[in-house]
Amino acid sequence: MLEKMSEFFEKRLSGYDEHMLSEIEGAGEFYPYTASLLPKRPGCTIIDLGCGTGLELEEYFKINPTAKITGIDLSEAMLKALSAKFEDKELNLICGSYFDTEFGNSVFDAAVSVESLHHFTKEQKLKLYHRLKESLKPGGCFVLTDYFAESEELEAEYFNTLALLKKEQGINDNEFYHYDTPLTVEHEIAVLKQAGFSEINVKRNWGATYTLVCLR
Ligand SMILES: C[S@@+](CC[C@H](N)C(=O)[O-])C[C@H]1O[C@@H](n2cnc3c(N)ncnc32)[C@H](O)[C@@H]1O
Repeated sequence: MLEKMSEFFEKRLSGYDEHMLSEIEGAGEFYPYTASLLPKRPGCTIIDLGCGTGLELEEYFKINPTAKITGIDLSEAMLKALSAKFEDKELNLICGSYFDTEFGNSVFDAAVSVESLHHFTKEQKLKLYHRLKESLKPGGCFVLTDYFAESEELEAEYFNTLALLKKEQGINDNEFYHYDTPLTVEHEIAVLKQAGFSEINVKRNWGATYTLVCLR
């Protein structure tokens, strides 16, 4: 049965960090690696899309303890766990969807997202990435670490299966349901370019998880 996105993560909060770090290929490396690509200037401003319990932020604060973070997540419980970890940090946590949240113009030094954006279509991402690019200051970058489809055939299969499951379960609302629908890296890059990012560099991968650095 498909579960609503926010409920899916609420239910899995207990043991979530341990699960991510021990079960996801490369997680022990990709969290610190992603953090290492973010700006090191004290007090810089970062937006995190789908920050969850803050695994990437935990690594980032080791490098830049005074960074100011805007974190957006659908799950209140995940955000509570995050706040409890970083009581002394400057956090602006928004419980809601990054598709509905205003980011502002030229306000962030960088953006980051880890293992959150593989649930959405090219069309949904195009508008989001355009707004995200606009929210970055000149010279800013978006560090995206996520899991990608290994082929166009698999990408199509994930979307077809989701559509079939929704039909079978009589789901016809516009809510987000948890089902992985990753794009291929090539399709993700095409959307990021279409959204206006000037340069996209594929940095590293751990199995199906890749880190991309996208320049404003
Ligand atoms: C697999 S977790 C990753 C969390 C964290 N970045 C990490 O790597 O541990 C995915 C997170 O994305 C959040 N999420 C999914 N869709 C979202 C949306 N549309 N807006 C905000 N958060 C979303 C979920 O609530 C969940 O906390």
